[in-house]
Amino acid sequence: MNRVYIKTYGCQMNVRDSEAVAALLRNRGYAIVADEDEADVILLNTCAVRDQAEQKAIGKAGHLARRKRDGGRLMLGVMGCMAQNRGTDLLDRLPDLDLLVGTQKFHRVPDLLDNLFASEKGLGPRPATLVDLDVEEGSQNRIREHSDYKNARQIAAFVSIMQGCNMNCSFCIVPKTRGRERCRPIEEIVDEVRELAASGTREVTLLGQIVTSYGRGVIPGRNGKSPFVQLLEAVSEVDGIERIRFTSPHPRGFKADLVAAYRELPKLMPYVHLPMQSGSNRILRAMNRPYSAERFLQIVEDLRAVVPGMYFSTDIIVGFPGETEADFEQTRALFEAIGFDMAFIFKYSVRSGTRAAEMADQVPQEVKEARNQTLLEILQRHSLSRNRGRCGAVEPVLVEGLARKGEGMYMGRNPGNRKVVFPGTARLVGEIVPVRITDATVSTLLGELVLSGVEDSAGTGGEAISTGRATSAVLPCGTGSR
Ligand code: 5AD
Repeated sequence: MNRVYIKTYGCQMNVRDSEAVAALLRNRGYAIVADEDEADVILLNTCAVRDQAEQKAIGKAGHLARRKRDGGRLMLGVMGCMAQNRGTDLLDRLPDLDLLVGTQKFHRVPDLLDNLFASEKGLGPRPATLVDLDVEEGSQNRIREHSDYKNARQIAAFVSIMQGCNMNCSFCIVPKTRGRERCRPIEEIVDEVRELAASGTREVTLLGQIVTSYGRGVIPGRNGKSPFVQLLEAVSEVDGIERIRFTSPHPRGFKADLVAAYRELPKLMPYVHLPMQSGSNRILRAMNRPYSAERFLQIVEDLRAVVPGMYFSTDIIVGFPGETEADFEQTRALFEAIGFDMAFIFKYSVRSGTRAAEMADQVPQEVKEARNQTLLEILQRHSLSRNRGRCGAVEPVLVEGLARKGEGMYMGRNPGNRKVVFPGTARLVGEIVPVRITDATVSTLLGELVLSGVEDSAGTGGEAISTGRATSAVLPCGTGSR
């Protein structure tokens, strides 16, 4: 049996695409292995959002190509966004590639590999690199066929609802790598979620480049509700699914209907990834982001009014062309004022072919570094104090499995998507259990199971634990039962 190792760079969409390729390959009789040294085929599923991500994958592919040239029997493929972005130019740098597969052709990987192995056995001519980078009508609907639930129970699963992006942010390569927006029908997504629920999934994260644009221009609005909110309602109806998340939305998608969904749909978790990019209106305009800093703050306040204690994460780009100290100060101030729980802070990276690449006043690297550092420090400070503030609280934790470290330690997530680690047992996996938080780091909460009988006899019980958003009163660290 041929053994395949898949390495994934970049976003959750890429993770989902790699899962899909793995599922298809398993169905075709390939084995997916966890160790690249054991593999006959290595596939790199790549990212093109920043130069650094591309260089990492190119470096890795170059290294593997040497292993191939040194006589190792190995097939080497590059898939996904960098393949789409750089196309066959990549072959100048990486002439040893056997496969180059674009973002709309993941489902073709098994056929392409079969062909390569057939020609290796002398059943056909040995091709040069097999290249498949075309646009494919309906490729967003093939994701369903990629599913592989029978092989592994996934407590929290990703569900791709759409592909592509019609926005035109001046810094971003994604519209080129992922193409125009194409959405899957609501019924098909709901069917997939039902199957997931039947196989033990309790939480779904709906994925798309701009999920709030889901179905725009294809599915009509209903009772003032956008297609995306209609989808959230439909997914909410699925029995067995207890928690719903999504990523990534666009701020301009947070109209009254989506804000109200947080009031009306208890399964919708109180965690929003809301990409801000900048706090300077001048820079937001240059980025072609159609909102102001004031509007962004308003969205955060609207959501907090519906769900006090809502968790927020964001994406920020520092050092966008023309960003002055005054612009950055506005970003810093808004970032601090909102108090994000998580953030991805990126140094602006020139992407050839985008409008920002041509802009004057590119910002020096050391200025980007310093601004990056400033925001990271604010983030760490805020995350730690927010996490410490949970100490003593009892949180409903969806248990996903063993923690990476510590014998007998299990991990799950609280409604705010924070990782919670606690001593547990295997039968808790897939359950939502009450965990009292006893300690916290910047990124993780530590806790212990609350055993209701013990709580009652101690007279400290009575916290309302639900599957969703209810959290108890917060006590200072150290007052929880230890
Ligand atoms: N440079 C730096 N960061 C970028 N992003 C997108 N394009 C670039 C770029 N050229 C960031 C944005 C986006 C996230 C996925 O990646 O913040 O939200």
